[in-house]
Amino acid sequence: MKSKIVLPIAKSFAKRFEPINFTKIEEILPSYIDKNYSKHSIINNKIISLQSLNINSGKEEYLKYFNNCWLLTEVLFSSLKYKESFYQTPYHSLRHPLIFYYGHVASFYVNKMLLAGLIDKGINKEFENIFETGVDEMTWDVNTQDNKINWPTLQEVFTYREEAYNLVTDIINKNEQLFTTKISDETPLDKTPLWSLLMSFEHERIHLETSSVLIREMQIEYVRNPKYFTEPTHHQKESQFPRVEIDYPENELLSIESKVVHIGKKDITTYGWDNEYGLDTRKVSDFDVSQYLISNGEFFEFVKDDGYYIDKYWCGNGLSWRKFRNTYHPTFWVANGPKDSNLFKLRSCFDIIDMQWNYPVIVNHYEAKAFCRYKSELDAKNYRLPFEAEHRALQDFETDPINSQFHNNFNFNLQNLSENAVNINKHTENNLHDLHGNVWQWLEDDFHPLKGFKIHSYYKDFSTPCFDGKHKMIAGSSFFSTGNLASADSRYHFRPHFFQHSGFRIVNDKQNYIKNNIQIEFETINQATGVKYIIFKENNELKVLEKESFDARFWQ
Ligand SMILES: [Fe+2]
Repeated sequence: MKSKIVLPIAKSFAKRFEPINFTKIEEILPSYIDKNYSKHSIINNKIISLQSLNINSGKEEYLKYFNNCWLLTEVLFSSLKYKESFYQTPYHSLRHPLIFYYGHVASFYVNKMLLAGLIDKGINKEFENIFETGVDEMTWDVNTQDNKINWPTLQEVFTYREEAYNLVTDIINKNEQLFTTKISDETPLDKTPLWSLLMSFEHERIHLETSSVLIREMQIEYVRNPKYFTEPTHHQKESQFPRVEIDYPENELLSIESKVVHIGKKDITTYGWDNEYGLDTRKVSDFDVSQYLISNGEFFEFVKDDGYYIDKYWCGNGLSWRKFRNTYHPTFWVANGPKDSNLFKLRSCFDIIDMQWNYPVIVNHYEAKAFCRYKSELDAKNYRLPFEAEHRALQDFETDPINSQFHNNFNFNLQNLSENAVNINKHTENNLHDLHGNVWQWLEDDFHPLKGFKIHSYYKDFSTPCFDGKHKMIAGSSFFSTGNLASADSRYHFRPHFFQHSGFRIVNDKQNYIKNNIQIEFETINQATGVKYIIFKENNELKVLEKESFDARFWQ
């Protein structure tokens, strides 16, 4: 009789890496997985992401959560159609091929348990070395030398993952004392060995999302729908050119009153990365913000008006990136006609679908800023992205959405395997949508520490290398964010040329704001010439610069 659940490794391996159809989720899961715990992650033949782990819960909850992390990775990687899919270097060469991440998330557990003293030797020194460090290239044209790395075979990594899984399970099972000392809200960053496991769980969830982006960037021929996530329904059928209020909603500006916000992790029941701890109190002045994220339809105006080709909309590095990539549309729009015909389909994670004009556009930071400049000119306003403090001012949640019972209104935690329309996730009475979830939102801020920031000794370079003025913050989480990523306290960042499931909303800047540590007094426009000027304070002197020169000087 054909075995459906318990497969010997070789058979399981063969089934997983050949382009065949599966009928049950259990068939793609490796045979070593403990079904006592994996059953909590599977409902109606679909995988779900469990609610965030309470850090002071017991062994059973840790095992459920660990299995959930592991299974999510397995299901995601089952979307790689061929063995070769694992070894494809991304088109931008900014990250390793997915074989690295398949091994990396497993070796991370081993390396962190070594550091925490939970084990005294690893599984395979060579692998723990090869799989230790990811990439975050500083420029867009650096090849990661991946073609010189002799990656292990898929069978070798599969075997390594089995050993790592068994090791973690053993450590959790055999160390009752790990769960007897509670992690205090005052000492979350102290060296409790349990923290190394929590760190590894959430690290795996980070790579779950970044790997989903790499898969979305992969040629569609190498990918298949993994089936066992909750699939989205896309409502829009092919429409060549978007019509406002028919294909996408008009996006109004709403006024937000001045307020004081406190930034710093408040939820003491869940894991946080080092940069979330500390406390900053910031005063936010009145500002106007778009009620929706910028939709594909709204962004189409910029594309149609040749925004990608008009240099003045791009900052110095952004212009260099745009020219280097020679791109003329957002990365997940798929040309559906000759160049410049402006006909597009949409690349979702695992498919190419009709364009959904009412979905949030997914862009990098440079493209978001270029759109702000284009639209500022069009509307005679002064648009920019929100600052972190403004984003926090918008989020007035009593409970962190990830801990809330009312998840329906948030598109996150893998409840839907795609971004969805910008006007359906309503979060405030005054009609603000997508304050959290759907897609990440680019911010103006460079990534920075909060007051009281401390490095965690288990991961000393998680944040500090990125406090370099070259990483831009993102906020709000995406449909693929789970665990810590989906928390309102999370603080993440990317280089401005990187893509994530990330879009943006716009703020109309009022007077007296600070840009790149420069106090802007006001902006004015010469009505006769249309030239904009910025009056700003530097070394206690008022200075005037044409806005274009100011931007060129400070937005490098
Ligand atoms: Fe990593």
